[in-house]
Amino acid sequence: MKYSMAWLSYRRLPFYEGKEYFRKIYVQEEDEITGTAVYELCRGARELLGIKTVVIKLPEPFGQDERGKTEEGIYLLSDSKGPVGGGYRIAEENGRIRITAAEPEGLLYGSFDLIRLVQRGVSLRGIDRLKHPDNPLRMLNHWDNMDGSIERGYSGNSFFFRNDRVQVEERTEDYARLTASVGINGVVINNVNVTEKATRLITGEYADSLKRMVKIFSKYGIRLYLSLNFAAPMELGGLETADPEAEEVKAWWQEQMKETFRNIPSLGGFLVKADSEGRPGPFTYGRTQAQGANMLAEAVRPYGGIIIWRCFVYNCTQDWRDRKTDRARSAYDYFMPLDGKFEENVILQIKNGPMDFQVREPVSSLFGSLKNTNQMLEVQIAQEYTGQQRHVCYLIPQFKEILGFHTYCRKEEDTVADIVSGRSFSHKNCGMAAVANTGSDANWTGHDLAAANWFGFGRLAFDTSLSAEEIAREWCECTFGTDKAVVYAICKILLMSWPAYEKYTSPLGIGWMLTPNNHYGPNVDGYEYDRWGTYHRADHLGIGVERGKTGTGFTQTYLEPNASLYEEIETCPEELLLFFHYMPYTYRLKSGKTLIQHIYDSHFEGVEDVEEMVSLWEGLKGKIPEEVFERVMLRMDHQLDNSAEWRDQINSYFYRKSFIMDEKGRKIY
Ligand code: GCU
Repeated sequence: MKYSMAWLSYRRLPFYEGKEYFRKIYVQEEDEITGTAVYELCRGARELLGIKTVVIKLPEPFGQDERGKTEEGIYLLSDSKGPVGGGYRIAEENGRIRITAAEPEGLLYGSFDLIRLVQRGVSLRGIDRLKHPDNPLRMLNHWDNMDGSIERGYSGNSFFFRNDRVQVEERTEDYARLTASVGINGVVINNVNVTEKATRLITGEYADSLKRMVKIFSKYGIRLYLSLNFAAPMELGGLETADPEAEEVKAWWQEQMKETFRNIPSLGGFLVKADSEGRPGPFTYGRTQAQGANMLAEAVRPYGGIIIWRCFVYNCTQDWRDRKTDRARSAYDYFMPLDGKFEENVILQIKNGPMDFQVREPVSSLFGSLKNTNQMLEVQIAQEYTGQQRHVCYLIPQFKEILGFHTYCRKEEDTVADIVSGRSFSHKNCGMAAVANTGSDANWTGHDLAAANWFGFGRLAFDTSLSAEEIAREWCECTFGTDKAVVYAICKILLMSWPAYEKYTSPLGIGWMLTPNNHYGPNVDGYEYDRWGTYHRADHLGIGVERGKTGTGFTQTYLEPNASLYEEIETCPEELLLFFHYMPYTYRLKSGKTLIQHIYDSHFEGVEDVEEMVSLWEGLKGKIPEEVFERVMLRMDHQLDNSAEWRDQINSYFYRKSFIMDEKGRKIY
C-alpha cells in the first residue's frame, strides 16, 4: 500500500453487537454530501463489519407517522428543525438508528461519528447523542509551496503541489476523507508566504486543477481557501503600487476577484500574511492593517468570500541590544487600536501566543481585548518548535489550556473558546485554524503518533468540551484498536509527551533556546544576539525578560485581573515566570526549590520521562503492526538521544553562567 489511512484504516472487528443496524441504510435526500455520508457508512460497514449494505431511498415526505412504522437500520434524515451548522443527533430506538441534521454536513459528521463508535466497540443501543460544532470555521492551514516543498513540513513533500503544478490525485480524496471525518470544514492549501508561482493561483492558470480539487473537497463539506500575495497587483498586474487606498489597486483586485470567483465559485476566500517577515503589506504605504484587509474584503464580498488576516505582524529586524522593543507586544500594539474597524467579512487570525508557537507561552492578549472584531485562533500542529515530528509531542493538552484561558472580557463566557466560537461577542465569522502537519509520507505525519494532533485538532475544534484524554483515547482506539494494554500505553505516552518536551527544553516559558532557522535541537544562545526579538537575557545572576511595568509593560496589555496576576512575581504562574520576569537563579519557587535547581531537576526529569515513554513503547512489540512499531521505535530512540542533548546543553549552560552546583551532584558538563 502506498500510504495508510491513519485513523480510518478500518480493521475487521471479530465481533460487534450492533452489526445488524448496518445492513440497511435509509436515506431521504440525494444531495452530494448526503451521498458521501451513505458511501462512508457503507464503506465502514464493509470494512469493519464485513457487511454489504442495502441503501433504500425513503419516500417523501418522511413524517412522524412513517417513523413509527419503519424497519431496522440506519436512517439519514434531514430535518429543518434538527441540529444546524453541521450539528447532528444520533438516536437509537428499537433497532433503528436515526441520524438527524438540518444540513447534509451534519449527516456526514454524524455518520463519521457513528463509524468511530463502531471502531471503538461502543454499543449503539439506546444511544442519544446531540452534537453542535462549537466553532463555525474549523480550518487547516497548509504551508505547502508550489515546488512541492512544505515550509516547516516534517512529513515529506506536498501532496497538493509538485513541480509548480496543482496535484489532484487519489490522495486528495483520502485527505478529504480524513480531514472531514474529524469535522474540519476549511482548508488553505498554499503557504502563507506567497511568492512566484503561488501568486498566480488566483489567476485562470490553475483554475482547472483547482476546480477538480474543489469538487472532491465539496463532497466532503470542505471549502477551499488560498493564501494570497498582497503585492499581486504589482507582480501580476504590472501596477506600480499595491497601496490599498489607490483606486487602480482597488480596481485591479475587484477585476481579479471577479475572474477568480468565476473560475472557482465556491472558493471560501483568502488567508493573508502581510507586513510580516518580509511579506508585503499596507505598512509600505503608510496604511493600517485594517485598510489593507478591508480593501480585499470589499473585493471578495460580492462572492461571499472572507479575508482571514493574520496578526503575526512584528519587527523581525530588532537589535538585540534594544530592550524597549518587545516582540510580544507587537500584534497587540498594531491591532488593538483597530478594534471595530474591520469589515464584517474580515477575520483576524491570532496565533495562540504573542511570540510563535513555543512549547509554553501565555495566551495572546488580543483575545478578550478585541471585542468588536471577528477573530480566529491559530495553533500549530506542524511541530516546528516542538520536536518536528521526530519527538512525540501531543499538543491537545496545550490547546485545551489555551481554549480554557479566562480573559475576563465579560463576567461569563470569557474564555478563548467562548470568544473564537462566537459565544462571547455574537460573532459569526470565527473559529480555529491549525498549521497542518501532513505530507506525502506513507503515514501522513512523519511520526505515526503525530496523527493524534491532526485528529485531535479537528475533534477539539468541533467540540471544545472534549478532554485531551478523551481525544487521545478515541484516536488510539480508532487507529490501533481497543486492546486495553495498547490503549493504556499509547495514551500514557501521548499525555506525558508535551510536559516532557517542556521539561527538557527551555525553562519556565522563556522559549527559543533552539537552533536558529531550522528550529531543531538545542542552542541556548542561538537567538540571543540575533535580530528576531527572541531573547532570554540570561547572565551570571539570573534569566528572563522583564515584561512587567518596569520592563516592556507587556503585562499591562492583559485585562484585569490577568494584568496584575502576571505583573506580580508572587502570583505570576510559575510556568510563565521567565516569560514575564527576569529572575535571579537563587529565587525560591513555590516548590521550595531555587530557580537554578528547578532548571537542573526538570531537565533530568524530562529525559527520565522519555525513558519511560520508550519503555512503554517497547512493551507494545507484537501488539501493534510491526512496521508502525519499528518506525516509531526509531524515532523514539532518537528522541531519547536528542532530549539528553537538550538536557546537557541547557544544564551546562546554566551551570557555567551561574556557577551554582546541582544539589544532587549529578553530571553536568
Ligand atoms: C514562523 C515560521 C515561519 C512562518 C511564520 C508564519 O516564524 O518559522 O516559517 O512563515 O511563522 O507563521 O508566518
